[in-house]
Amino acid sequence: MTRHLLRDTDLTPAEQREVLDLAAAMKADRHGFKPLAGPRSVAVIFEKQSLRTRVSFEVGIAELGGTPVIVDALTTHFGRGETIADAARVLSRYVDAIVVRSHADERLRELAAHATVPVVNALTDGYHPCQMLADLQTVRERLGGTEGRTLVYLGDTANNMANSYALAGVTAGMRVRLSGPAGFEPDAAVLAEARKLGVVEVVGDPAEAVKDADVVATDTWTSMGQEGDGLDRVTPFRPYQINRSLLVNAKPEAIVLHCLPAHRGDEITDEVLDGPQSAVWDEAENRLHAQKALLAWLLEHS
Ligand code: CP
Ligand code: NVA
Repeated sequence: MTRHLLRDTDLTPAEQREVLDLAAAMKADRHGFKPLAGPRSVAVIFEKQSLRTRVSFEVGIAELGGTPVIVDALTTHFGRGETIADAARVLSRYVDAIVVRSHADERLRELAAHATVPVVNALTDGYHPCQMLADLQTVRERLGGTEGRTLVYLGDTANNMANSYALAGVTAGMRVRLSGPAGFEPDAAVLAEARKLGVVEVVGDPAEAVKDADVVATDTWTSMGQEGDGLDRVTPFRPYQINRSLLVNAKPEAIVLHCLPAHRGDEITDEVLDGPQSAVWDEAENRLHAQKALLAWLLEHS
């Protein structure tokens, strides 16, 4: 069976642990794993902007001994009539895996349905599972594990990061708390799914939400594609900014995560992002290790 990572729960708790164990091993021996030597090729397709995802996949695939093929969707036929299904059939003849950053999750599901190689979600409107693997790797490194820890996500609780924190967090045995303004509530179906696997709380008051937190995370208030949606994506979010006075409510040893890019002064202040509790640079680095492990694991299990 061809394995994909379209959503965080495509990995069981045991499988997620395996990938994270492998990510730690790959980080400890960065050039010691060559499962893509041959070389095997991986297409990495972007229908939205990227810095971290693009570079970490390109470098990671090369470090695994493979050949990365980076595709800017603006230069393909995607926007002008070629169906995703046809693209999946063709790409499967060229490459050993397909990594895609796209808009609607339906596009990825369609791609995976017609591909004969693993498909990886490199961010959609709905989810960002690769980011989660890097975040969980960072939590393991900083706090010694994820089981029983409390992760609080503040800000746009209706976006892809909120969905993925809920699903990946409970998969890793964490208690997840989501806190954001009215009008930007978590997706009801995602909440229901996550709550079958663990505890997810929705707490309106940000100071209350971060109480006893081990991990405090946030993300932009305006995700890619939402720039012109006509909503006020600043004023209602202001109380959810991660700043020093909010952070004192968390555990003193709590770490701060942000997938980046950060909008300094909006969802997070300079003093927190650059401060002692910030783990964001390790988090960004871990995209590389976690994605290398993920690709190796998917290919081994497909
Ligand atoms: N965090 C993240 O996915 O960053 P990019 O958009 O730069 O890839
Ligand atoms: N929620 C953000 C994440 C960026 C990495 C977005 O979708 O733009």
